Parts: sequence; C-alpha cells; structure tokens
Amino acid sequence: MSKIKNICCIGAGYVGGPTMAVIAAKCPDIKVTIVDLNAARIAAWNDENLDNLPVYEPGLDKIVAQARGRNLFFSTEVEKAIDEAEMIFISVNTPTKTYGVGKGMAADLKYIELCARQIASVAKTDKIVVEKSTLPVRTAEAIRSILDNTGNGVKFQILSNPEFLAEGTAVEDLLNPDRVLIGGETTEGGEKAMQALVEVYANWIPAERILTTNVWSSELSKLTANAFLAQRVSSINAMSELCEKTGADVNEVAKAIGMDSRIGPKFLKASVGFGGSCFQKDILNLVYIAKSYGLNEVADYWEQVIIMNDHQKRRFAANIVKTLYNTVSGKKIAFLGWAFKKDTNDTRESAAIYVADDLLNEQANVAVYDPKVEAGHMYADLDYLETRSAAENAKGLTVFNDPYEALQGAHAIAVLTEWDEFKGYDWQRIYDNMNKPAFVFDGRNLLDADKLREIGFFFNAIGK
Ligand code: NAD
Ligand code: UGA
Repeated sequence: MSKIKNICCIGAGYVGGPTMAVIAAKCPDIKVTIVDLNAARIAAWNDENLDNLPVYEPGLDKIVAQARGRNLFFSTEVEKAIDEAEMIFISVNTPTKTYGVGKGMAADLKYIELCARQIASVAKTDKIVVEKSTLPVRTAEAIRSILDNTGNGVKFQILSNPEFLAEGTAVEDLLNPDRVLIGGETTEGGEKAMQALVEVYANWIPAERILTTNVWSSELSKLTANAFLAQRVSSINAMSELCEKTGADVNEVAKAIGMDSRIGPKFLKASVGFGGSCFQKDILNLVYIAKSYGLNEVADYWEQVIIMNDHQKRRFAANIVKTLYNTVSGKKIAFLGWAFKKDTNDTRESAAIYVADDLLNEQANVAVYDPKVEAGHMYADLDYLETRSAAENAKGLTVFNDPYEALQGAHAIAVLTEWDEFKGYDWQRIYDNMNKPAFVFDGRNLLDADKLREIGFFFNAIGK
C-alpha cells in the first residue's frame, strides 16, 4: 500500500469533525474530506464565522482555520468523497437500539451498515475502511461480509481504530493521546493496511504510543475502556452516599485513595452522575453482548454501574425536594449548567435533564443558565423523555442568557455542570436577590462551601 493521499470520513459529528481536523492540520500532504448527510451540519462546519462551528471544543476553531480550504473539506457529496479516497473512516453514530431485539441495550448498527453498503456500491478501487465509531466486538465481520459480496472485484481491508477523546478536551486529547489503537487482520494485506494508518498518525504521535492489535481486541478494548472509566465514577458516587451518612468527606476519601499509585487520582470526582453520549450506551452494549454469550454474571456486574448512576441522579433531585420542606411546587429552582460536563455544548444524557424532569414532576419552576447550550437543545432533551407535553416543558422550564437573572428570586440553586465561570460569580449579590432561606445544591463539588455558608447560604454538596 503506497502512502495515503486522500482520506474520507463519513460522519461530521463530535468525533469525525475534530479527529479529521487534527489529521488534516498535522498531515498537510493528505486531503481530508468529511462528509455527512446532514446538510445543516456541513454548512455550519463551513461557516466563515468560526463561532458557528457545530461542535464547541477549546482550540478547535484554530485547528479548523489552519486546515480548512487547504487540505480539509466538509461536504455533503458522500459518494464523490468515497470514490476519491484510499482510506475511509466510518464515524457515524451508534446509538442504543430503540426498537426490536435488543431494544434499550444493543447498539443500533443501521447507520454503520448503510455506510458499508454505500462504500460497496461506489468503490472502484481498493480501499481501507476504518471503524472509528464505537462498535460491538466482531462488527468488522459484518462489514466485511457486505463489502466482499458486491462482485465488483474491489479489495477492502477493514481496520478498527477506536477514538478515546473526551469532549471538552478533544483537541488536546487528539494532539497528545495516551495511545492510538489500531486493530487489523493478521494477513499480509491486513498488516499493510495497519502500517498505512500507523504512518498517518506517525506524523505527530511517537511510535511507542501507536499500538497495533487484532481487530477483535481493538473493538473490545474501546468498550472496556469506557466501562472501566464509568465504573470509577459509579464507585466514588456509591461512596458519596455513604459519606453523607457517616460524616466522611468524599473529596478527602478520593484524595486518600487516589494517592495509592495502584488506584491513581483521576476519575474519582463524585458528581450528580455521569452523562455523555457514550458511557451508558457502551456499557448497555457490553451487557447485551455478555448476555448474548450467556455470561449472565458478567452482564449483571457491569449493569450495576448504570443502576448506581441512575440512582445518583434521582437521589440528587429527591434531596432538593426533601430539603425544601418536601415541596418545590411553584418554587423557582435555578440550574447552573445543562451540558454533561464543562467546556462542551453537548447535552446528551446529561444529568441535568433527569434532575429537571424529576423537579418538573414536582411542579417546580426550573430556570436554567448554561454558557454554551442553546435553549432549543434543553427543550428537545426534555421533550425526548416524553414525560409531559412540549407545551408543559416550555411552561415549566425557562432559559436565561444571564446567570444573575436565572438566579434572581430562586429558592435554590443546583450546580449541574462544573463550568469554571460559576466559581467567580458575585455570590453575595446572588444571595441578596434570592428567596430566603437560600439553598445551594452543589452536584459537582465546585463551589467554596465555607465562603457560601459565611454569606448565609444553606450549602449542600454531593458526598458531604
Ligand atoms: P454524532 O451524532 O455527533 O455524529 C454522527 C454523524 O454521522 C451525524 O452528523 C450524522 O448525520 C452522520 N451520519 C449518520 N449516518 C450517516 C451516513 N450514512 N452518511 C453520512 N453521514 C451519516 O456522533 P459522535 O458523537 O461523533 O459519535 C460517533 C461515534 O464515535 C459513535 O460510535 C460514538 O460512540 C463514538 N465516540 C464518540 C465520542 C464522543 O466524545 N462523542 C468519543 C469516542 C467515540
Ligand atoms: C468518555 C471517555 O472519557 C473518552 O475516553 C471516550 O472516548 C468517550 O467517553 C466516548 O467514547 O464517547 P466523555 O464522555 O466525552 O468521554 O467525557 P468524560 O470526561 O469521560 O466524562 C463523562 C462523564 O463522567 C461526565 O458527565 C463527567 O462529568 C463525569 N465524570 C467524569 C464524573 O462525574 N467524575 C469524574 O471523576 C470524571
């Protein structure tokens, strides 16, 4: 396989966009074309005003500005891009199935299959197809079966190259990853294809951080990594509830155990629960795969991570109701943050959605401020739950562009996202303009408890 000159990526989302922008920025000799069926999304990626990119990530605007129009292109012409490329990344969404066998558990692979069929029907020259989406172990087998049965004589190599970036730090993670994982077949063609992809990454990543494995190990490693990370969050969250009952402080416990080099300090921040598009979806998928092999104990073990996470969100909302004298009906509860973590505009599976849902059930007036999330997304998140009508959601939830307006006259504040700016607010002014007694429920252990108590707030934080 000669050097790659043309890359196509199908799917211009949170992964496809940033990943390919970094490849283009670091490999000026490779033409990178990102395609998507969603014309509005492509138009936003092409918007001259870099504030309008569809994905907010610190540093992404600069990377896009560097490469766009030079060797980075965003287009809706899927077939043309497939035809031109020697290497095609599939980076489409793989949500949890909402219908049929495996509903609510298995990954829905319809978008992946569509891509494979489209590649099969368009390709006239040999191609390397790279799985960038997170997929169930052995998906490459299905993709191979579709690609190999087109009868047009084109040879395909299938690689697994899962993405480990986290939102909010995507650019930094892509520029400086802990490792890049590439799985391929142990045939001569497979080895050559892996080498071609290794050479792309070698433009900026040290050789010792580029790991090659067989396809199945690579596919399963991605699900395993997310399961282990989510498990750590559920583990510390389980301890947070015990801390609240016993007078222990979850931050002190996390620090004490994190100093053990075998445990390590990262991913031990107790919270209102993990969100994001992937942890829950990938663990449910893992549970489904384990069950499909009859491994019920393995499935139950991992399912508990999700059960704990759901419990954490629900008990946060319940604690607000209980503390506010068992009723929030007609009371203004202000949310600081709606995104599932700071430095992203992504709200998928954000804990805020579920806490809002519970409080709306109790007839609270929820007032939200988030520095990056648009109001339309918040309403869409709530409507998607189908707990109540869109009109009722619009009545119960109000979105503010100014945090001080959102907090004005509130009975309680719930911190749902750990945006840095919240720490620098004028908390005395906020207190002065709230209903008394004024409560803060810090779901992120973000704010200075002593300072807020001194001002007069009743302060409540996860795990304390
Ligand atoms: P996304 O929904 O943001 O983007 C997927 C895009 O694919 C959408 O814009 C959609 O229009 C497009 N698409 C779907 N089918 C298509 C088709 N047939 N042709 C052209 N375009 C098509 O999803 P995402 O967050 O980028 O995730 C993509 C994959 O990467 C998932 O498997 C996810 O699990 C995985 N992943 C996500 C993250 C993350 O941080 N979001 C990190 C690592 C891995
Ligand atoms: C996660 C993984 O970290 C990435 O490696 C992976 O590529 C990605 O999923 C994916 O496959 O989509 P992401 O969901 O973007 O990335 O963000 P994380 O930083 O992992 O946070 C996930 C959730 O856990 C957030 O809601 C965050 O607030 C929460 N969290 C994280 C905690 O509550 N405590 C912690 O200590 C860490």
